[in-house]
Amino acid sequence: RPSQFSSASASAHIDEVTGGRRLRRLRRTDWSRRLVLENELSVNDLIWTFFLTTGTGVAEPVEAMPGVERYSVDMAVRMAEKAAKLGIPAIAPFPREDPEKKTEDGSYITDPDNLINRAVRAIKKEVPEIGIITDAALDPFTTHGHDGILRNGEIVNDESVEMIVRGALSQAEAGADVIAPSDMMDGRIGAIRKALDENGFNHIPIMSYAAKFASAFYGPYRDAIGTLGLLKGDKKTYYVDPANSEDAVREAEQDIAEGADMLMVKPGLPYLDIVYRLKETFRLPTFAYQVSGEYAMIKAAALNGWIDEEKVMMESLLAFKRAGCDGILTYFALDAAQRLK
Ligand code: PBG
Repeated sequence: RPSQFSSASASAHIDEVTGGRRLRRLRRTDWSRRLVLENELSVNDLIWTFFLTTGTGVAEPVEAMPGVERYSVDMAVRMAEKAAKLGIPAIAPFPREDPEKKTEDGSYITDPDNLINRAVRAIKKEVPEIGIITDAALDPFTTHGHDGILRNGEIVNDESVEMIVRGALSQAEAGADVIAPSDMMDGRIGAIRKALDENGFNHIPIMSYAAKFASAFYGPYRDAIGTLGLLKGDKKTYYVDPANSEDAVREAEQDIAEGADMLMVKPGLPYLDIVYRLKETFRLPTFAYQVSGEYAMIKAAALNGWIDEEKVMMESLLAFKRAGCDGILTYFALDAAQRLK
């Protein structure tokens, strides 16, 4: 049978099925697309994540994260200055401590002169206008790479919380602006809140890594902070199972009840459904962490010429906004801020 679909009859047919409603009308021109834009990425949405290392004058590349470097404290100060000049509101540094500082119980987290505390003091002194968000998990400080204290093959919750609270306090004393515990121990938000309040830090907010998943996307980070190969077993007994979302909602609910001011979802892009759900449910400032593996995937494809790095970077960050994020922790922050200028 010959085709009866002439353009005139096609138009009539299309108008009939669409009721004359043509969604492409508003997409025709640039001005019109801009006018109906629903979400926009701004430099105010960016939290720059980066790595610290010992020494001075050091900026060494992280192999699995092309374009990312570990900075000694003096260099970190300069980089923080750069971030501030670009308008980035906050930074989140992670330390690669020297192996001899690591112990079974991670107690070096409480040392006022550990890398993170030294960096916080130095940056606060030189670049006071930028917010510093510190992690109070123990993994950079333990010989076994776990976020808590390992005893007889088990991560013991309450003792870990005690050490994490002491770590959080030492960070607050160094000048950290936000405490963001990523360890997922039960009760740590309430315990940190209480300790902060009792020690004159009731103005310091807590950003809870409320929904942190037991994810394989953290691979390159472990190389970056020098815990690669250290980790005994996995983190499934404390992080949320990637198969679950109800558990993530319960975690957020619990953390809010204990005093969390802000929520975070981690990893980012593969977990945008969780971002959307937490934002819809709790209406709290909600963040996502575009983690090392996500960064590495984009970089690797871009370096092969398979994707346009800048476009994919900006699109991925915009996707977080669309899902409901108030901000994004990302290794791309400096590049994105430059691009947004
Ligand atoms: C652990 C921690 C992790 C990351 C930051 N802090 C995960 C882990 O090692 O299990 C991952 C960040 C990233 O992958 O970019 N407290």
